Amino acid sequence: MAVLEHLTSQQAIDLENKYGAHNYHPLPVVLSRGEGVYVWDAEGKKYYDFLSAYSAVNQGHCHPKIVGAMVDQARTLTLTSRAFYNDMLGIYEKYVTTTFGFDKLLPMNTGAEAVETALKICRRWAYQKKGIPENQAKIIVCKNNFHGRTTTIISFSNDPVARENYGPYTEGFIKIEYDNLQALESALIANPDVAGFLVEPIQGEAGVYVPSEGYLTAARELCEQHNVLFIADEVQTGIARTGKLLAVDHEDVKPDILILGKALSGGAYPVSAVLANDEIMDVITPGSHGSTFGGNPVAAAVGIAALEVVKEEQLAENAMELGEVFREELNKFIPSCDLVLKVRGKGLLNAIVINDTEDSSTAWDICMALRDNGLLAKPTHGNIIRFAPPLVMNHEQMMDCISIIKKTLQEFEK
Ligand SMILES: Cc1ncc(COP(=O)(O)O)c(C=O)c1O
Repeated sequence: MAVLEHLTSQQAIDLENKYGAHNYHPLPVVLSRGEGVYVWDAEGKKYYDFLSAYSAVNQGHCHPKIVGAMVDQARTLTLTSRAFYNDMLGIYEKYVTTTFGFDKLLPMNTGAEAVETALKICRRWAYQKKGIPENQAKIIVCKNNFHGRTTTIISFSNDPVARENYGPYTEGFIKIEYDNLQALESALIANPDVAGFLVEPIQGEAGVYVPSEGYLTAARELCEQHNVLFIADEVQTGIARTGKLLAVDHEDVKPDILILGKALSGGAYPVSAVLANDEIMDVITPGSHGSTFGGNPVAAAVGIAALEVVKEEQLAENAMELGEVFREELNKFIPSCDLVLKVRGKGLLNAIVINDTEDSSTAWDICMALRDNGLLAKPTHGNIIRFAPPLVMNHEQMMDCISIIKKTLQEFEK
């Protein structure tokens, strides 16, 4: 079979099942094309994408500016490794650090790699700057976190499915309740060897848990009081998703270390980054960390274009506006629908909580019905459906999506 032969959806699914590791449980839909807020399956059926590749495609599918930058750079120079300089990386680093207000950027590829990088920077800072005795540094994390899939990251996850049979686990993490300042303060007081507090400004994967107003500000202050680095994982919440460029911007909080990924490339290419000021980032010295692909010229060109799109098309403002429309319309609908308990979220990172037991298949079944009605979303942990469309959506499209969701839930209740 020729590699580029056109497949039916069933053929594509069969191939993945036979030749691919089964580390995902995808909704049975095979996508073969995307443009803006839409995707098409192998048979040509059109859908609204209401997941955006887990908030990576904020700028919409195949944005011409991002694809153009990627293709132009791919024709010119793709990879040099960091053994040599390239003429794109510095321009990109200057652009991103200026955009987010930090001295320096360390380029990586995936979100998990960027989280790993932030943890390494934090530990080095603990030994070289804070004076914590060797191998004693602790990092506080939150229960129900999701920061990626590496061995160290799953060591401090409390998701049994993500952890099972992957031990022994990495030490040095203290787990506390999310959105609980008392728990954070107690952990800081009880452990003088804490180096950092790693937190998602909204817990996305766990089910879009938005913390209480003021939580991030107060947590940041507690970290400052205890000389502990406040590390914000904005891989999912960042790049305009929640109605601001960063989710921490809702509270005007400036992290010590900022972690970005996903939409930093508009989903066109794996691009992630860690940002910090000099007094923190200068613990990284030649040879102490690296990545063959991190900081390659294509990633740099794509990253600049992706952020330019966010600014030029005012995607944060659009996400804020349409997010309010979405929650308002669903809040009007929910009292008439026994199937949904609530809607929550910020900007265009939202979720509905389904009125059924955690282990029931109701959320999955609703997603199948949504698929049949032309809208793609996926359940996340428990009986929760995450709704995160591309931020280039317009008002009319949003109203159309809301009516598909309402109609599907009504049909489902019958
Ligand atoms: C908050 C957060 N951090 C890190 C990651 C990991 O990113 P990646 O899948 O690119 O490794 C994710 C992915 O969903 C995430 O939501």
